[in-house]
Amino acid sequence: MPKTVLRVVDVVKRFGGIVAVDHMSMEVYENEILGLIGPNGAGKTTLFNCITGVYRPDEGDVYFMDEKITGLPPHVIIQKGIARTWQKVRPFKKLTVLDAVTVGALLRIPDVDSAQEKAKEVLEFVGIEKEKWSRLGSEITLIEHKLVDLARALATEPKLLLLDEVAAGLRPHEMDRLAKVLLRIRDEKKITMIVVEHVMRFVMGLSDRIVVMHQGRKIAEGSPQQVASDPKVIEAYLGTKPL
Ligand SMILES: Nc1ncnc2c1ncn2[C@@H]1O[C@H](COP(=O)(O)OP(=O)(O)OP(=O)(O)O)[C@@H](O)[C@H]1O
Ligand SMILES: [Mg+2]
Repeated sequence: MPKTVLRVVDVVKRFGGIVAVDHMSMEVYENEILGLIGPNGAGKTTLFNCITGVYRPDEGDVYFMDEKITGLPPHVIIQKGIARTWQKVRPFKKLTVLDAVTVGALLRIPDVDSAQEKAKEVLEFVGIEKEKWSRLGSEITLIEHKLVDLARALATEPKLLLLDEVAAGLRPHEMDRLAKVLLRIRDEKKITMIVVEHVMRFVMGLSDRIVVMHQGRKIAEGSPQQVASDPKVIEAYLGTKPL
């Protein structure tokens, strides 16, 4: 049996009358890439926010490595080893690439010089060339921004990485470059990932397993092939999207 890294148990999150996450349960296994898909408003980002402590679930619990982390603040959850990237790119306009990643590394390494060494290592790992390290956030391209965001998350030395629409806005060859980096994160760094994504070619090709959300609930889970041929999934989501 694979080891369970994250367990979401019957989580509910409401905003006024809207039930954004509605009795959602799922498990994430060690060293897998779990694709989390579903139509706009399905509750994917809200679920990420419940896992990472941005929101406290109204009901239910979240367990990370068998420890209950429900309602802990974001800085504690990141210390425990869950890092994320954000759906909306958050530019670090006034920081250099290297400084932005060093800030991530300082979470675990209090010494600035050593944190900077760690930042260089992860920037090299994601494939940002040395001459870009001194650029400001406002001076790099979208794919570079996505890779630097990944490097910032990796610099915190997570066991679990949550990626919210990391491929959005990228061209096909840029998505291929990103997919290769994510596979290396799984295979070389042994980090487990949840990938929220609308670009089907990207997420279906990358994921070991897929969970499908619709109206706050899980409507299907299985291999990419299984969910792609599931009538419930086609009706709720894939019927509206080119594969
Ligand atoms: N802070 C908030 N206040 C009120 N309603 C919210 C808030 N955040 C999310 N919602 C609502 O909760 C529901 C789920 O939204 P969420 O952003 O989690 O969906 P999503 O699956 O990430 O969608 P997308 O694919 O468009 O990013 C939607 O109806 C949304 O309008
Ligand atoms: Mg979202």
